Amino acid sequence: TRQTGLTALDYGFVNTAATRSAITFIDGDQGILRYRGYPIEQLAKNSTYLEVAWLLIYGELPTADQLADFDERIRHHTLLHEDLKRFFSALPHTAHPMSVLSSAVSALSTYYENESDPHNPEHIELNTVRMLAKLPVIAAYAHKKSIGQAFLYPDNSLSFVDNFLKLNFGVMSEPYEVNPVMSRALERLLILHEDHEQNASTSTVRLVGSTGANQFSSISAGINALYGPLHGGANEAVLEMLGRIRESGESVQRFVERVKNKEDGVKLMGFGHRVYKNYDPRAKLVKESADEVLAELGISDPLLDLAKELEEIALNDDYFRERRLYPNVDFYTGVIYKAMGFPTRMFTVLFAIGRLPGWLAQWREAGTDTHTKIGRPQQLYTGAVRRDYPGTV
Ligand code: SDX
Repeated sequence: TRQTGLTALDYGFVNTAATRSAITFIDGDQGILRYRGYPIEQLAKNSTYLEVAWLLIYGELPTADQLADFDERIRHHTLLHEDLKRFFSALPHTAHPMSVLSSAVSALSTYYENESDPHNPEHIELNTVRMLAKLPVIAAYAHKKSIGQAFLYPDNSLSFVDNFLKLNFGVMSEPYEVNPVMSRALERLLILHEDHEQNASTSTVRLVGSTGANQFSSISAGINALYGPLHGGANEAVLEMLGRIRESGESVQRFVERVKNKEDGVKLMGFGHRVYKNYDPRAKLVKESADEVLAELGISDPLLDLAKELEEIALNDDYFRERRLYPNVDFYTGVIYKAMGFPTRMFTVLFAIGRLPGWLAQWREAGTDTHTKIGRPQQLYTGAVRRDYPGTV
């Protein structure tokens, strides 16, 4: 390239290393997202987190019996080993819940080292259920730790989502009644996050899985990749951005100008996407939910109005239109999570719980097929040409 100015593409090399997958389809120009062929709009409004998890992992919607058995197995794997609960006390209460989550998942694998052969179908099934059952509990413990409250035990009489809400918002000394509005909204938000083809964290899970690493280690790596503010961490960054605008008293227009001038590298968080060059279909559904949930909870949040004003200005501004920048899934989710009572630092943890079924499905597709080769992303070398060490010639 340095001598000729040509690149591999000029020689007709096409990136043949594109990942082949049958799980999720995205058309970024049309704003289409389908899980195993089913449109996200239909699944988000009519299905459940566990039914969609089964669809992603096994390729078809489950029968009623299959779903009931899946649900039952998950309920009976929600308990963490008592030693693992003590793991949390080793971390500072100021620890970010995403750090706690990835560390605890990695530690989880130490309890199942004799049942984690990535080519053993029984181990794969067992650890798929263990991950789905225990990640929400670990997440709730990370939340409770961050607010200095006692951990609760899972309540297996509750649904997956309701159990998670109780683990987060229940307290020992009081009965806890699940708010159906929160339950329905969280179910829909989790479904919207369940998979998204080869995003950074899923690619990480696949790459780690392709080395023969077990599900726990692969998922822990995916959690760390998701943590970044350009990826899953954006939902937390959006709320911080909206809060800063509001507290500073800066006009939305002035903030948008700073974004356009790239002052101090400021970005409109929750906007833009590597694939969607149109409205992210998930963002549309989340925005609808935001209005419904806040109205039903009787909450009016000025940050939601601020987000809508930002969207309105950006969608009508050439800078964003020319770069095809639209709201993505992270733009409105934080307002709903905040209305539910989750602290901002838990938002990406909620994204991770949503994404877990997709990670597990993609790990199985990539890492456990005994014919799958180890992942090895290609590079185009742009470094120094051959030269000799001084004095050797
Ligand atoms: C997720 O991949 C997935 O599917 C991810 C995800 C999933 O479900 O797994 O959908 C979840 O991660 C959503 C994205 C969340 N991240 C954010 O909201 C962070 C803010 N967005 C950006 O940082 C950015 O849009 C990315 C990282 C999401 C995408 O970056 P791209 O496609 O590589 O775009 P780019 O960085 O090449 O930018 C192109 C232009 C640049 O301007 P110019 O150099 O042409 O002048 O657009 C500008 C950028 O500066 N730009 C933005 C912007 N995003 C891009 N300008 C202001 N604000 C933004 N948010």
